[in-house]
Amino acid sequence: MNNTLILLAACFLLLPSHSLAQRFTTSPAIERKIDSLLALMTPEEKAGQLNQYSGDFATGPGGNFLRSDHADMARSEKVGSFLNVLGSDVVRRIQHIAVEETRLHIPLIFGYDVIHGYRTTFPIPLAEASSWDPRAVELSARVEAREASASGVQWTFSPMVDIARDPRWGRIAEGSGEDPVLGSAMAAARVRGYQGTSLSDPTTVVACVKHFAAYGAGEGGRDYNTVDMSERTLREVYLPPYKAAVDAGAGTVMCSFNEIAGVPSSVNRWLLTDVLKKEWSFEGFVVSDWGSIRECINHRIAPTSDGVGRAAMHAGLDMDMESNAYLGLPRLIASGTVPLSEVDESVRRVLRVKYALGLFDDPYRGCSAEREKKEILSAENRAAARDVARKSMVLLKNDNAVLPLDAAKAASIAVIGPFGNDKENMLGTWSSLGAGSTVVSIMEGLKTAASPKSRITYVKGCDIEGTTTDGFAGAIVAAQNADVVILVVGESRGMTGEASSRSQLDLPGVQAELVRAVAAAGKPTVVVLVGGRPLVIGGILHQATAVIEAWHLGVEAGNAIADVLFGTYNPGGKLPVTFPRSVGQVPIYYNYKSTGRPFNDSVHYTSRYFDLPSTPQLPFGFGLSYTTFSYGTPRLSVQKITANENVVVSVDVENTGTRKGEEVVQLYLRDDFATVTRPVKELKAFAKLEFMPKEKKTAEFTITPEMMSMYDLSMKKVIEPGTFTVYVGTNSVDCREAAFEVVQ
Ligand code: GLC
Repeated sequence: MNNTLILLAACFLLLPSHSLAQRFTTSPAIERKIDSLLALMTPEEKAGQLNQYSGDFATGPGGNFLRSDHADMARSEKVGSFLNVLGSDVVRRIQHIAVEETRLHIPLIFGYDVIHGYRTTFPIPLAEASSWDPRAVELSARVEAREASASGVQWTFSPMVDIARDPRWGRIAEGSGEDPVLGSAMAAARVRGYQGTSLSDPTTVVACVKHFAAYGAGEGGRDYNTVDMSERTLREVYLPPYKAAVDAGAGTVMCSFNEIAGVPSSVNRWLLTDVLKKEWSFEGFVVSDWGSIRECINHRIAPTSDGVGRAAMHAGLDMDMESNAYLGLPRLIASGTVPLSEVDESVRRVLRVKYALGLFDDPYRGCSAEREKKEILSAENRAAARDVARKSMVLLKNDNAVLPLDAAKAASIAVIGPFGNDKENMLGTWSSLGAGSTVVSIMEGLKTAASPKSRITYVKGCDIEGTTTDGFAGAIVAAQNADVVILVVGESRGMTGEASSRSQLDLPGVQAELVRAVAAAGKPTVVVLVGGRPLVIGGILHQATAVIEAWHLGVEAGNAIADVLFGTYNPGGKLPVTFPRSVGQVPIYYNYKSTGRPFNDSVHYTSRYFDLPSTPQLPFGFGLSYTTFSYGTPRLSVQKITANENVVVSVDVENTGTRKGEEVVQLYLRDDFATVTRPVKELKAFAKLEFMPKEKKTAEFTITPEMMSMYDLSMKKVIEPGTFTVYVGTNSVDCREAAFEVVQ
């Protein structure tokens, strides 16, 4: 089929997200209501609104999540919000106290970490980012909001949008990788999914974009560690996804634990007030991270709770999660240490979100056991999780087209490895109330998908960690007796997420040795990688016939992986983060600076390691398909423009293979010469397009003045005259080029 379609490629990616969504805003009517309420509130009641307590998981799902004092705290108006209090019955009970047994009847707001699923666990966010499909990510967030709101959750501490260039950091699993444009598209998609078109819809939850800011840039990839960077890097690389989420309407923001250049975010007025509330016109509220105000004592900002509380309030941090620092505010107001106006502004912002959620009209937002029964883990939700999981996988190698498996040739399949029959770890980090028992394991998925005549065996081969190779022999025999081997190796869920930074990026334990031993059996060997970060996989790429990055895919992991292995679905994912050859290369990312001695492995005096090639193992944006695509040379609508004009880029892409498939067409740009150094290339737009066999399409992108702009020496946003190089391709390295010039 040779039809050429002109496509405006995924325009919502090319336009600033605020042009499509509405920022969270208040209204004169709501402000008048808040004025009236503020006038009635005592300093103690105001401080109470700014205080958030956590439920107690020890009394857990079987209990009521409440600590013994929680009811009294609500009754005495010393708390404005709870997190980790879950279930419609418990939420109704504690909310009833707040709205019926208090003087002013102000409803509580209930928050929870619904990061990639409430009970129907979706792929971890890094996996979903691999789909490069904002619609899929929006669907994921929509389902999560429906389930969680049925249970009384009104506020999710998501999306986590922290850019991460260091895979040692455990929380790289929670974000969307290393790039600001991909990260911005995912951030906006999640906010749309969580918040829908109106927060008055009881199936929505208000989003909380986190962790503001630059939490992913901790030195050494160590969690909570020091961040020190220029304002230019902060603004060009790390801030865009937070702004995209705010522009998409996020009603709340969570500040980060870390300092930036000497100022902890919890007490950073430049960040929370000057940038977020003034420059970005953010009208919602900022919540601290867990205890992060109190931790400013450890940062040595002040020796007392009152000291750090005062600094946080002055910075514009509106709500205190679990530091107990703001209950001292009445005393600080009375002593004139904290202006009442600062407290009133924070209370106003908190009340705005409560009004926007409709909590003053229906404090329960229709949460009920009936809704929970209808919404949670429904077949529809599982189907959505399976679809998103299929889209989240990245095909890294496929020699001899060993994939997709041919049921006839793969009569006997040996599944080997510590994750081949695993359920719990497929949930990934931050899996909310997800349960291992709800997960379809890879063995289960394969058995369901394979032909009844197939013989599928499972041998663990080795543990996730540990040194024993006692299981190798059995694994090798299983491989020798099979037509094809599926090796499932990687990281446990506990090796990723918060406080889970690793000093190494190798497969844990003896898993790499298992791969080598099993591959030596000489059978077609497919490695399925599971985990929450890029790993060092050079050996695996050499030894295996095929390799799929499957991350932690959630409840439908087994079915989704089987769909890809048997070809029901042709994988079209792309890496959202660079894979290094060794941990020694970290940080390594695609949008690097040239330096005065650009690395060249054949020239001694250049910026490189002499014991390793300078290129990454796999580049940002990399991903294969069961079909093949060819790219034409990009065509530009114009060769010379002035600084306020657009350039339209058209590129022909053809599916040269025999299978239907999706391709993420990526557009990068380089400002060739400028008064400050510029990255060798930067992603500016992308479009995921579906092709029938032999189908050719023309992808069309518009390069806007915003995309050509940079911060000059005085940190002013400008477009400097000169040439720009356009790169269009299938990943950040394999591109076709064109050039245009901006003239005065
Ligand atoms: C944690 C995390 C944050 C989470 C919060 C509430 O420490 O840093 O992402 O939302 O506490 O659970």
